[in-house]
Amino acid sequence: MIVLGIETSCDETSAAILIDGKVKSNIISSQIIHQRYGGVVPELASRAHQKLIIPVVEKAIIDAGINKTQIDGVAVTYGPGLIGALLVGLNFAKAFAYGLKIPFVGVNHMQAHLYSNFIGKEKPEYPFVCLIVSGGHTQLVLVKEPFNHELLGETLDDAAGEAYDKVAKMLGLGFPGGPQLDKLAQIGDSNFVKFPRSYLSEDSFEFSFSGIKTSVLYWLKNRGYYPINENSKKLDVQQLSDLCASFQAAVVDVLVEKTMRAVEKYRVKHLTVSGGVSANSELRKRLLAAGNKSGVKVFIPDLEYCTDNGAMVAVVGWMLLERGVTSNYEIGAVANLSI
Ligand code: KG4
Ligand code: ZN
Repeated sequence: MIVLGIETSCDETSAAILIDGKVKSNIISSQIIHQRYGGVVPELASRAHQKLIIPVVEKAIIDAGINKTQIDGVAVTYGPGLIGALLVGLNFAKAFAYGLKIPFVGVNHMQAHLYSNFIGKEKPEYPFVCLIVSGGHTQLVLVKEPFNHELLGETLDDAAGEAYDKVAKMLGLGFPGGPQLDKLAQIGDSNFVKFPRSYLSEDSFEFSFSGIKTSVLYWLKNRGYYPINENSKKLDVQQLSDLCASFQAAVVDVLVEKTMRAVEKYRVKHLTVSGGVSANSELRKRLLAAGNKSGVKVFIPDLEYCTDNGAMVAVVGWMLLERGVTSNYEIGAVANLSI
């Protein structure tokens, strides 16, 4: 079965071709227009998707070495995400499928992240726990069997990636600042500042990252480093790296501790991690070490499948189409779709 997967929920225009479950191409075009505004501007995202969708899909088809008439089904993200951005991909997918007289299926973006670890050769076994950490979500999910998910807990305020991006912005690192913050943290001292860890109640699988973000803000403000202007003091590279490492340690400590607690409580042997923040070097290292220690196999996608991509949408589409699930043309975009 050949499946075309399309993803346009935020600021990545992406398309992928999957043949019998294997990724043959995965084209991702990241919109750089948002950098100058320090965050994703929804209207600009929609316009950029409109410009990019056809060339991105065409390249995915060419790189996979197939002809579009060989495609058996189209999978597309229909939520959650920015409504205008979602509509571009969804409408394109409907028209594409209609033109070729093939089925199309709407895919939940969170489920796409959740199953992104099925792209690899070795697949996780059910039941498993999944930590989804992205710019919009932080969730712990128990996956009992395919498409049988129980949400164990999620963030009550900022998502982990959102906290990374906001702190990076305070430090003048650009947008999205998560990757840059990660890089600096690798050469920093995580004991520089002891930022608070928000565990909430002991057995809670919920998260809160707004407190740590505010702590960083006050640390900078009280010492004259923020707001950044011609009068503010400037951090040298070592201080900046130490601050990044201290912030990162506080976020990663909480993510690792809660995730391993869920693994223990539900006695699963497999753990998967996905979403943009699963690209974080410290989180990957710490979770792999924790898994090793407790005899749990940890699955983390290759970097290109951590952040938003069409391949993970195609994988879920393929799983659904194989089960005979399709969507009809009435399906609309759902901005706040839950997992
Ligand atoms: O999954 P994703 O592409 O989009 C959403 O669905 O939200 O995740 C994007 C998020 C951004 O917040 C970005 O800063 C973060 O993932 N991110 C990272 C790293 N790479 C991407 N955060 C920390 N360390 C990284 N290496
Ligand atoms: Zn995402």
